[in-house]
Amino acid sequence: MSIRLSSGKEIPIEMHKARMVQKISLIPVDERLKAIGEAGYNTFLLKTKDIFLDMLTDSGVNAMSDNQFAAMIKTDDAYAGSMTFYEFADAVEDVLGYKHVMNTHQGRAAEHLLAKVFIKSGDVVPTNYHFTTTRAHIELAGAQVLEIYYDEALKTESTNPFKGCIDPQKLKNVIEKYSKDKVAFVRLEATTNLIGGQPFSMKNMKEIRQICSENGLMLVLDGSLICENAYLISQREKGYENKTVAEIVKEMCGIVDLFYMSGRKNTSVRGGCIATNNKELFDKIRPWLPVYEGFYTYGGMSMREVGAMAVGVREMVDPSVAGCAVEQIKYFVNRLAETGIPVVTPPGGLACHLDAMKFLPHIPQSQYPAGALAAALYIASGIRSMERGTISVDRDKEGKEIMADIELTRIALPRRVYTVSHMEYAIDRINWLYKHRDLVKGLKFVFEPPVLRFFDGRLEAVANWGKDVTEAFKKEIGNC
Ligand SMILES: Cc1ncc(COP(=O)(O)O)c(C=O)c1O
Repeated sequence: MSIRLSSGKEIPIEMHKARMVQKISLIPVDERLKAIGEAGYNTFLLKTKDIFLDMLTDSGVNAMSDNQFAAMIKTDDAYAGSMTFYEFADAVEDVLGYKHVMNTHQGRAAEHLLAKVFIKSGDVVPTNYHFTTTRAHIELAGAQVLEIYYDEALKTESTNPFKGCIDPQKLKNVIEKYSKDKVAFVRLEATTNLIGGQPFSMKNMKEIRQICSENGLMLVLDGSLICENAYLISQREKGYENKTVAEIVKEMCGIVDLFYMSGRKNTSVRGGCIATNNKELFDKIRPWLPVYEGFYTYGGMSMREVGAMAVGVREMVDPSVAGCAVEQIKYFVNRLAETGIPVVTPPGGLACHLDAMKFLPHIPQSQYPAGALAAALYIASGIRSMERGTISVDRDKEGKEIMADIELTRIALPRRVYTVSHMEYAIDRINWLYKHRDLVKGLKFVFEPPVLRFFDGRLEAVANWGKDVTEAFKKEIGNC
């Protein structure tokens, strides 16, 4: 939620109070330089003891509610038939409108099952934009991801409220070029993770549904951030201004054939699920659940997490939860934009994204500007962000580098975790870094895993630039 102050200024306001806290500390810049060196200039490989504000992701690190903790204690622990699973299934039916649901241990496990069941080698999967794990599973199944966004989607500075839409004409072209038999399914991702958490509109969703229906194609929704997409629809789409997030979420779910999500985001629980009203589709997936995840009534999750997820599904459509990250992101992005920092606009539903090619125009894409910016931000602030650029794209089959469409450094805002003063600190240090951007140089791989290399890859700073940033910081601000 946001609130208007008497000055007219709007700020995000927390609709919760902290009743349990975790101490964090800020190690001096000298030690941060050492830590990022030991982590191979990869923020994934930092240890949390060395991190001040952990803005790597909003996945699995949101604050749970008191009711979710209570549900974890009340859980009915059973290998099979747990009533906690049936409470979860009831919540899914009430909130999402689906009669059939199964848990998976997280979102990528759902993707694995969908790839296993619905994708054949040689198929294509058109989508508004891929997510890293989605692409890995689609490609491991021998298929190809086709991104069919409107061209505007890759324009980092924009006023287009719905940069996450699929271009319907491009979908028609795909069907014509590859034939509908080769289209495994059409995938819509609610707020496109890799291109700045940008939402699609309901109007677009309905147009895509229409094309899928005309061609007998299955429409799949990756609803990991469905509530943020719905919240943004309520704010931005004509005709939806008086609808609740709950109503919009239900309407979105009713449009697609199959829904899956990572529960780590919207429901603040480490898990995932697949849901549908189409029993035939459900029955095709269900036999594989015990093979890869676990028995039907736990699907790879602990029952405690299923219990917390049952509550999380009901809570996630509350505007104070659905809008928690969105309003913080809006504040963060607008404050950075007003100070001239190149940041993805309009603000999306996932994180604040710095445009690394504009922030560090002197670094060629082959030297990973978004990765360099994430490492430099850590040195200058103790804030952990994430590279979402070329490092996050694996090489092609011939081992050739594939340059990302855009180079983003993502600063996530886990729900109900950080406050406006934390954002103000981040804004200050990002501005300091921007003034000293010439000191930051590129990165090069010293160890590169073959799949999802961004997780475990190790890099080093070209010309040891980390030292230069550290020295400048110490001179102007101190060893703090
Ligand atoms: C849009 C989207 N899909 C799928 C996933 C994968 O989910 P998980 O991390 O739970 O495996 C994520 C994770 O961030 C995501 O953002």
